[in-house]
Amino acid sequence: MYRMIYMFALMIAVGTASPVQATSPKAAAKSQPQEPVVHIFASPVEVRAGRAIAEQTCAQCHGLDGLSVEAGAPHLASQHADYLYAQLKAYKDGARKHTRMRQSIKILNDDALRNVAAYYFSLDLPHTGDPQQGTGVTAQTTSMVDVNPEEAGKAASTGCASCHGKDGNSVLPGMPSLAGQNLQYLVNAMKAYRTASRKDPMMRPAVALLDDDTIENLALYYALQKPKASPMNADGDASAGEPVATACAECHGADGNSTKPDTPSLAGQDPRYLVTATQAYKDGTRDHSAMQSLVALLNDDDINNVAAYYAASQPEGGAARKPLTTAQWAERCDRCHGIDGNSTDPQIPSISSQGHEYLAKAMTAYREQDRGNTIMRAMLKPIKDVEIENLARHYTGKRRKSVVFVKTPCK
Ligand code: HEC
Ligand code: HEC
Ligand code: HEC
Ligand code: HEC
Repeated sequence: MYRMIYMFALMIAVGTASPVQATSPKAAAKSQPQEPVVHIFASPVEVRAGRAIAEQTCAQCHGLDGLSVEAGAPHLASQHADYLYAQLKAYKDGARKHTRMRQSIKILNDDALRNVAAYYFSLDLPHTGDPQQGTGVTAQTTSMVDVNPEEAGKAASTGCASCHGKDGNSVLPGMPSLAGQNLQYLVNAMKAYRTASRKDPMMRPAVALLDDDTIENLALYYALQKPKASPMNADGDASAGEPVATACAECHGADGNSTKPDTPSLAGQDPRYLVTATQAYKDGTRDHSAMQSLVALLNDDDINNVAAYYAASQPEGGAARKPLTTAQWAERCDRCHGIDGNSTDPQIPSISSQGHEYLAKAMTAYREQDRGNTIMRAMLKPIKDVEIENLARHYTGKRRKSVVFVKTPCK
């Protein structure tokens, strides 16, 4: 008990005295408009009062020992009191939504909330290694869902190679190259064939049964491949095509390397494919209003020439980025949440050893903008389900450590 009071006392000292680096992510966290910081100081009397409240009101879901007994409820043991109190206030005033939590605490006054927060902070979170509870589950018991999307895309691409080439650089006349193509465009194109809004007798069966994840993995794989200029001879005259291409540069880039994620690059593309695609817009078999009106005025020579011009242009590729690995993600999270999720900032929750299901749920809530914290929302906006799953497993497996504060002299 005394150790704990000591910890609170030190926490206050550190919380008010420590300088924060202006450029650190934590400083960014603090620059958010927030309620004034309330640090919690609790004496044994108050912690005992908090225990009584916990026993009566919270234990049925969060356990009297702070180890959750209800699916979806987080472990509270050893979580920072300041953070717990802030969340309780957020439920109470409706900023954080959860009907049962709100109902459980609505009759409690501020002192009661502080005391119960201090009580749960005073407890250790044991490392049970129990996959149900999620505390300290090791890598052996829950291995990462180790999907490397680029590898998965490569594996899925074997059936595409006969037409599009082994690495997406086509060697068949009339067949489009996919290597280095813009990621979003590739995704959109495959989905368009899948729904048959873009019609092609060869592509429809190739993608009809693919799920969204596989389509995204395939797109990533092809977008990351190094594009080569088409080895095919073009029918048209590239130099005569150059002036025609000025009308296309705004979207496809001056040399056919588009920087717009949903607009295809044309540089180095198979010349016959470029001709067929342009004709398809012109005769309306390929539906896209902007492209249709742009090519309506081109005659056959223009189309052949502009195709020759783009086919001869050097493709760049390289706009796609490899997704972060779990270790790279975690390195970013640890900047705020502390080493292995053991936060030293009383306002930032520890996430080590927290239940796996709860962690995944919390991350999803930020991503879906359901839980209101601008930093976490921005951080998790682009995150995929499999990455959430891997991060949840990563932090579930980390041991919760009692946070050791820097010793400062007592007054
Ligand atoms: C009926 C079950 C239930 C009861 C009773 C209950 N809680 Fe909860 N609590 C939950 C659930 C479920 C969540 C997760 C809600 C969410 O996803 O926002 C939660 C979330 C929390 C959080 C947020 C923790 C975090 O890591 O962000 C705190 C703090 C909390 N509860 C404290 C308490 C306290 C203190 C009491 C008693 C006064 C209490 N709860 C009573 C079910 C309950
Ligand atoms: C039997 C040959 C064939 C196979 C197999 C095939 N494709 Fe295609 N693919 C084509 C043809 C032909 C086109 C051009 C169709 C058109 O004009 O719309 C095309 C077009 C595409 C496009 C659009 C390219 C662009 O620049 O708009 C993408 C993306 C694509 N294929 C991906 C794939 C993937 C991924 C697979 C494997 C799952 C695959 N294809 C399998 C023949 C094939
Ligand atoms: C306003 C922007 C815009 C302009 C200008 C533009 N394009 Fe496009 N282009 C697009 C978009 C967007 C697509 C993808 C449409 C789709 O999904 O079918 C596209 C697709 C294409 C394709 C099909 C590529 C493939 O891989 O399937 C060709 C070929 C093409 N454009 C040629 C041209 C030419 C030639 C010009 C100039 C005469 C031109 N575009 C001007 C936006 C533009
Ligand atoms: C810039 C600082 C910062 C970074 C970086 C950051 N977080 Fe957070 N995180 C916070 C803050 C502050 C909160 C409390 C937000 C609130 O009140 O809802 C939080 C809350 C959480 C929660 C909810 C915990 C609970 O008990 O409910 C989870 C889970 C979480 N973060 C996971 C992550 C993961 C995973 C990453 C890395 C991908 C990450 N965070 C990166 C600052 C950060």
